[in-house]
Amino acid sequence: DKSLPEPIKIKLDDTNPEKIKLGNSEGVKGTRVRVFGRVHRERRQKENMFITLRDGYGQMQVILQGQLAKTYDALTLTRETSMEILGELKEVPAGAHAPNGRELHADFYKIHPGWRAAGGDDAITNRVSKDTEHATLLDLRHLVIRGETASKILIIRDAVEFAFNQVFKELRMRKVSPPALVQTQVEGGSTLFKFQYYNEEAFLTQSSQLYLETCLPSLGDVYCIEKSFRAEKSLTRRHLAEYTHIEGELDYITFNDLLDHLEHVICRVLEISMADPTIKQYILDLNPEFQTPERPFKRMKYTDAIDWLNEHSIPNEDGEPHKFGDDIAEAAERRMTDIINRPIFLTHFPAEIKAFYMQKDPEDTRVTESVDCLMPGVGEIIGGSMRMYDYDELMAAYAKEGISPADYYWYTDQRKYGTSPHGGYGFGFERFLAWLCKQHTVRDTCLYPRYFGRCKP
Ligand code: 4AD
Repeated sequence: DKSLPEPIKIKLDDTNPEKIKLGNSEGVKGTRVRVFGRVHRERRQKENMFITLRDGYGQMQVILQGQLAKTYDALTLTRETSMEILGELKEVPAGAHAPNGRELHADFYKIHPGWRAAGGDDAITNRVSKDTEHATLLDLRHLVIRGETASKILIIRDAVEFAFNQVFKELRMRKVSPPALVQTQVEGGSTLFKFQYYNEEAFLTQSSQLYLETCLPSLGDVYCIEKSFRAEKSLTRRHLAEYTHIEGELDYITFNDLLDHLEHVICRVLEISMADPTIKQYILDLNPEFQTPERPFKRMKYTDAIDWLNEHSIPNEDGEPHKFGDDIAEAAERRMTDIINRPIFLTHFPAEIKAFYMQKDPEDTRVTESVDCLMPGVGEIIGGSMRMYDYDELMAAYAKEGISPADYYWYTDQRKYGTSPHGGYGFGFERFLAWLCKQHTVRDTCLYPRYFGRCKP
């Protein structure tokens, strides 16, 4: 009914009262404030209306009392509507609960023209709910991210990426930004996205590793946080077509240095992330049993993993006992990791099943100085290795892989002009987050997942 009373008019200017975000705003209790946000939930209790307002920084309980709860806008309020609200922040009465233990007693509010969210059949609660089909939810990811779980994951993601940057700075590693459009492969031809680059063929990068290696002589240890692309044709819970790859490359190191470094990076990133009370709370909301892993991590050679799998009667993909040279499949790897139930550095994979650039173990040249870090619930989250640094060995590796050295001239030059023992790694950031936030799939740990059959929204 349009004839219901209008909100009480108060003369406003832009600076008074002060505009605050909804999260933790200690020190403003008892003062008049101005807030903006969207209606996350609303309920009526007797004469009053309780609104949970949300702005991405937190939530605030707002109370509309008396006349304010009876206006046309209040009576027709829909979820997700944007509001401007003025009022006094007060502690919640004993026994009552509200975010941060306070509530805003509104004395004025305004729904500006166009700020009202759709209602009726089109209301957000009718489009995204617990009963919505999985495929529909994927099409509606832009609305799903307004929900509590998705937004917590994205907020954790932001904090953890920042922590990675901080740790790399503590370690004096320099950040670089290698190209995404390339003409070399790093991790095999089968997952290359090819495209027409003017008059030439080019690919979307699978890994920035080869470029990071070229930076060592001038910048020292380096890292990057860039997208990598893999034309994966299977639908699994841990494969994306486009993912965020956190890669590091370290100069003048041994394989053991590389493993120690990785352990440090993981633990320090977690320490920094958990030191932020909001992030810690969000992580525990999503993953209540989360504990920072203990150092040192379990280190297990590939050949020991093969024995372990056979002792535990976990067969290979052909249903037979595992043998040296088998690629340990995703399911077997995950079962092993879940049973051992702690982070594992799985090392020394056979050269035959690993990338062309990996350094051979001097003590057993069948295997490489390579490592996968496996985490319970997810499996592999990191792949790394020492790099072949001898010129002749690298030329032979190209030939074996069937790749043309001409395209790799710049990579080969690293072995020609002052080579060095070096190594590095790549974290699949979505997988790391799936482990940290206890998510079933990496599709829920990125903003808009890209995988076989999906390129929207
Ligand atoms: O093991 P990968 O293929 O190793 C490399 O690309 C190295 N060149 C990295 C380096 O040494 N600089 O990939 C590294 C990690 C994997 O452990 C996994 O976590 C993630 O990248 N990854 C994927 N994540 C999501 N979707 C995919 N399709 C992925 N492929 C690899």
